[in-house]
Amino acid sequence: MYTQSLDQQGSKTEHAADAETAEQLAAFQKRVDAEEKIEPKDWMPSAYRRTLIRQIAQHAHSEIIGMQPEGNWLTRAPTLRRKSILLAKVQDEAGHGLYLYSAAETLGISRQQMVAELLSGKAKYSSIFNYPTLSWADIGAIGWLVDGAAIMNQIPLCRCSYGPYARAMVRVCKEESFHQRQGYEIMLDLCRGSDAQKEMAQDALNRWWWPSLMMFGPGDAESTHSAQSMAWKIKRFSNDELRQKFVDATVPQAEFLGLRMPDDDLKLDEASGHYNFGEINWQEFYDVLAGNGPCNKQRMRVRRAAQDNGAWVREAAEAYAQKQAAREAA
Ligand SMILES: [Fe+2]
Ligand SMILES: [Fe+2]
Repeated sequence: MYTQSLDQQGSKTEHAADAETAEQLAAFQKRVDAEEKIEPKDWMPSAYRRTLIRQIAQHAHSEIIGMQPEGNWLTRAPTLRRKSILLAKVQDEAGHGLYLYSAAETLGISRQQMVAELLSGKAKYSSIFNYPTLSWADIGAIGWLVDGAAIMNQIPLCRCSYGPYARAMVRVCKEESFHQRQGYEIMLDLCRGSDAQKEMAQDALNRWWWPSLMMFGPGDAESTHSAQSMAWKIKRFSNDELRQKFVDATVPQAEFLGLRMPDDDLKLDEASGHYNFGEINWQEFYDVLAGNGPCNKQRMRVRRAAQDNGAWVREAAEAYAQKQAAREAA
């Protein structure tokens, strides 16, 4: 997922607004309303372009940073089977990041600039990846809940009005579905195991449940750019609608595991068929976004070190490309 609708922090200035005529805007909206895909070379409002760059870059950064909490358990996975599955999953997340950087590049931003904005702290990534993975059960909880929330958010993005983003999401969603199942399978094994294993699963659920609900971003009343994103068909459902869908889908899965959701207010509303749930601690969400979550500093430190340690690879690739070009020109 991991777009989290953080785009309300975006710039309010509409640089090119006066250069965009009412006719252009109306014609664009007409195409969107007709469910036509907008492609990179098509005319688009500058605010549409900026919103997408911000959202896709945030999404890409989240995939890349999101490798860290699980990477932490690659060397300690309990069996060879679990290790190879987790390795494949973490590699998928790297792939998602790369597709998404490519999709954002079609809007006229370079990958270098996006990476620089991540490393400087200017660009955001999903708050969920600033929580620690303390036990093996956390790997189960992440797959089940975090990838589960990602699917809820990303399936509608397959119908996003911007073609390259929508197309990237098709494959990403198929892979997320595998991620969700591998996480649920870990939870299922633990819940069928010893008391200590079941307790470990319950503890992981207790710690990951609320941050997973925060992944959908602020409530609709606080989400100021949502209406415009819906009109442009970048978003198809509001944050609260997606969060409700996620709760409704996930509570029966917890019941099947024999685990208890850490929410005393959680209750099925027979009339609507939806689960009512307790108040989300939005202060925690904004604190984590502001850089004060349990692992924010560590995540950025590791990412910066990876960038520095990879410098020689980038330099070597560039030197090789130059050599090839020179050989072809000769
Ligand atoms: Fe992913
Ligand atoms: Fe995933």
